[in-house]
Amino acid sequence: MERVVETRDPAGTRALAGALAVAARAGDLISLVGELGAGKTQFAKGFGAGLGVTDTIVSPSFVLMAEYRGRLPLFHIDLYRLAGAAEALAGGLVDERQGEGVTLIEWAERLEDAMPAGRLDVLIEGTGDDPRRIVLRAGTADYERYLAALTAEGSNR
Ligand SMILES: Nc1ncnc2c1ncn2[C@@H]1O[C@H](COP(=O)(O)OP(=O)(O)OP(=O)(O)O)[C@@H](O)[C@H]1O
Ligand SMILES: [Mg+2]
Repeated sequence: MERVVETRDPAGTRALAGALAVAARAGDLISLVGELGAGKTQFAKGFGAGLGVTDTIVSPSFVLMAEYRGRLPLFHIDLYRLAGAAEALAGGLVDERQGEGVTLIEWAERLEDAMPAGRLDVLIEGTGDDPRRIVLRAGTADYERYLAALTAEGSNR
């Protein structure tokens, strides 16, 4: 199952992510895919805000994984600049700590087959000032609750 949403500005992408965060449960995995500057980190910021994270979420360029405290812990991974990280992660993508929170992975396509089916895919198309076309795809039935949260929220973006 999937839903497609268009956003016109970064605030729209953050609001979308924040609405999705209502559906978050411990152990969830969210894959963020889109080219440089698509808005993956903007999505992470909005998702964190929705989880009640008050610290500023930035791209975790120099650490493999950044951790934030919210309603659930948020783990933020960026595989772009980390050569070999994908391989390292593929061995144990979800460790015990991550099971207690939500893990967001930018450039998750680099993990290829190591990504479990149980995940929400967020595919962001568009860059610069263009509107973004954001495809939300539930990998398993469990993840359809994110799409349902969006319907329930019913805002007009
Ligand atoms: N509708 C939109 N949604 C998200 N970002 C937008 C939108 N319109 C413009 N932008 C701008 O696009 C940029 C997105 O940057 P962001 O760091 O989130 O991208 P990214 O996908 O994480 O890139 P990277 O691969 O470098 O990590 C920001 O400068 C933001 O202001
Ligand atoms: Mg980013």
